[in-house]
Amino acid sequence: MLICENVVKEFGGVQALAGVNMQVHEGEIVGLVGPNGSGKSTLINNVTGQYVPTSGRITFLGQRIDGKEPHTISHLGLARTYQIPRPFATMTVLENVEISSVFGRVDRSPTEAIDEALKWIEFAGLSEYAYAPVTKLNLHQRKFLELARALATEPRLLMLDEVMAGLNPAEIDESVKMIRRIHESGVTIVIVEHLMRVVTSLSTRIVVLDQGVVIADGDPQDVMQDAHVISAYLGRDYA
Ligand SMILES: Nc1ncnc2c1ncn2[C@@H]1O[C@H](COP(=O)(O)OP(=O)(O)OP(=O)(O)O)[C@@H](O)[C@H]1O
Ligand SMILES: [Mg+2]
Repeated sequence: MLICENVVKEFGGVQALAGVNMQVHEGEIVGLVGPNGSGKSTLINNVTGQYVPTSGRITFLGQRIDGKEPHTISHLGLARTYQIPRPFATMTVLENVEISSVFGRVDRSPTEAIDEALKWIEFAGLSEYAYAPVTKLNLHQRKFLELARALATEPRLLMLDEVMAGLNPAEIDESVKMIRRIHESGVTIVIVEHLMRVVTSLSTRIVVLDQGVVIADGDPQDVMQDAHVISAYLGRDYA
C-alpha cells in the first residue's frame, strides 16, 4: 500500500530522515516507534505532503506521492492526525469535521456531510460538544477531534501521531478499542506512540526509527527484545 524508498529529509544541517526504507501492506497496524527526535513525525509529514523529501521516493497505492500537495494525497485515501492538534479555531466541532467530510467531494450534499460528520464525532466520543466552539475542547478532546477529522475523509490508510499521549489508563484502553474498531472497518493503520504496552498489543508489525533510519522491522515481541532497539532507547549499557 505504502512504499518509502531511501527517503531523506534535511533541515539545514540536520538530517531528520537519513534514507528511510519501509513498507505498509493493506490490513496491517504498523507501530512506528523510536526515541524522541528519531524522525517519526517527519516521516509522516513527508508521506502526507506537508514536507517534500530532499531525496527518495514514496509510493501510495501504486502512485508516486512524494512532492504532491497534501490535499491531493488526502484525496487518494491517506489521512493523518497531528501530534499537536490544529483545529480551525473559530469554528465549532461539527464545522471542523464537516470540512473534512465535504472536502473536495462533489458527491455529498451539505446534509449528508453533516450526518457523516456527526457520525464520526460520536465515534470519537465528542457528541456533547458537537455544536460547541472548538476552543471548549481540552487537549485530549482535541486529539480525538483530529481523529474524527481524519476519519471523515474516509481514508484507506490512517497515520496516527501520538493520539494517546497524556491520556489516563482508562482513556488509553478506550482509545485502543477505538483503533481496533477503525482497523476492523477496513482501514490500514500506522501508529506512532511512545506507550510500548499499547504499541506491542495493537501492532501487527513494529518499525523502529533511530536517528532517521530504520533499525528494526518485524514481529512486535521480537523487535522489542532486539539489542539495537534497547540500546537506542536506553543506552548501550542496558543492551
Ligand atoms: N521543521 C523542522 N525544522 C528543523 N528541524 C526539524 C523540523 N522538524 C523536525 N526537525 C528535526 O528533525 C528531527 C526529527 O524530528 P521529529 O519531530 O520527526 O522526531 P519524532 O521522532 O517525531 O520525535 P518525538 O517522539 O519527540 O515526537 C529532530 O532533530 C527535529 O529537531
Ligand atoms: Mg513526533
